[in-house]
Amino acid sequence: MATFAPRTTKNDQDFLPLKGTDHVEFYVGNARQAAYYYRTAFGMSLVAYAGPETGQRDRASYVVEQGKIRFVFTTALRPGSPIADHVAQHGDGVRVIALEVDDARQSWLETTARGARSVAEPAEIADDYGRVTTSSIAAYGDTIHTFVDRGHYKGAFLPGFRAVHEDTVARPTGLKHVDHMVGNVGWHAMDQWVEFYAQVMGFQLYQHFDDKDISTEYSALMSKVMANGNGFVKFPINEPAEGRRKSQIEEYLEFYQGPGVQHIALATDDILFTVARLQAQGVDFLTVPHTYYTELAARVGSIDEPIEELERLGILVDRDPEGYMLQIFTRPVEDRPTLFFEIIQRKGSRSFGKGNFKALFEAIEREQALRGNL
Ligand code: FE2
Repeated sequence: MATFAPRTTKNDQDFLPLKGTDHVEFYVGNARQAAYYYRTAFGMSLVAYAGPETGQRDRASYVVEQGKIRFVFTTALRPGSPIADHVAQHGDGVRVIALEVDDARQSWLETTARGARSVAEPAEIADDYGRVTTSSIAAYGDTIHTFVDRGHYKGAFLPGFRAVHEDTVARPTGLKHVDHMVGNVGWHAMDQWVEFYAQVMGFQLYQHFDDKDISTEYSALMSKVMANGNGFVKFPINEPAEGRRKSQIEEYLEFYQGPGVQHIALATDDILFTVARLQAQGVDFLTVPHTYYTELAARVGSIDEPIEELERLGILVDRDPEGYMLQIFTRPVEDRPTLFFEIIQRKGSRSFGKGNFKALFEAIEREQALRGNL
């Protein structure tokens, strides 16, 4: 059952005002090639680089952007570093969910005072383009949150990065911003992390789903969506639930070797265009059976998009009292069945596609079975 929590009123003090997602940093085995995939397939543009040529001896990082979405791909240049260890353990995956704030020092003080574990104390870095203050706290698994205050910075990304002025490789797909980022946590750990986001970061419960909403013949999961005060940042948290066979969350936890980011939802305002481009550029999506579309009009009523076009692209639709939303999910973007992406267009709806869960999870289970993991 989905519920909407009341939005923060003006009288409530938001002790951690967030301006949005600053960037997402992935630790990967080969950052140059990972960045190339996101440029050619997802259409992101390379905007900044740091590595041995810029005085960074132990790592190389590539910063790519599209709309307000900013990803950083970082690789270790030698074994035995935290980056190399992260990749050995988890495969390629999200290390940092960075949040833009006005005051990274205050953000660190407020969250650590409420029980967050510090990963990096507030520090100011500067170059010719200005100064940036960052600080970091631990989240689920080896994932961390970094607070970034870039209000006094005019450079391409962060001090120490070299700007890249033109990307002739990028093939834009119309992606605009991060809609939400989902974390998978272990058995019975969801409420502990819901509590973390509530107590430590001042988030509120936005929606929740139980195993009656999200179950198929074989597997189940539970999910609660946490949102910050202004609603710009939404973090659904999933945990596995008992089913007849191994759930997709258990498969993730096994292959990621613990909790981590399961999917990143990227918003577009023209999903037909975006998904057609992504498919043409080699992004693989889950497919649903023809019957999904024969039942669609009865379930969601009148929509702007032609149903045959949605079926051709494999796009799903769900409606709630506020409007409707269109969504589609990629296959895992790595060989381990871990991280994947969602492409989403909201037309009034603030929901997460509950009406699609069954069709979607049956599609995921068909893929799990192909991998021998169901
Ligand atoms: Fe999602």
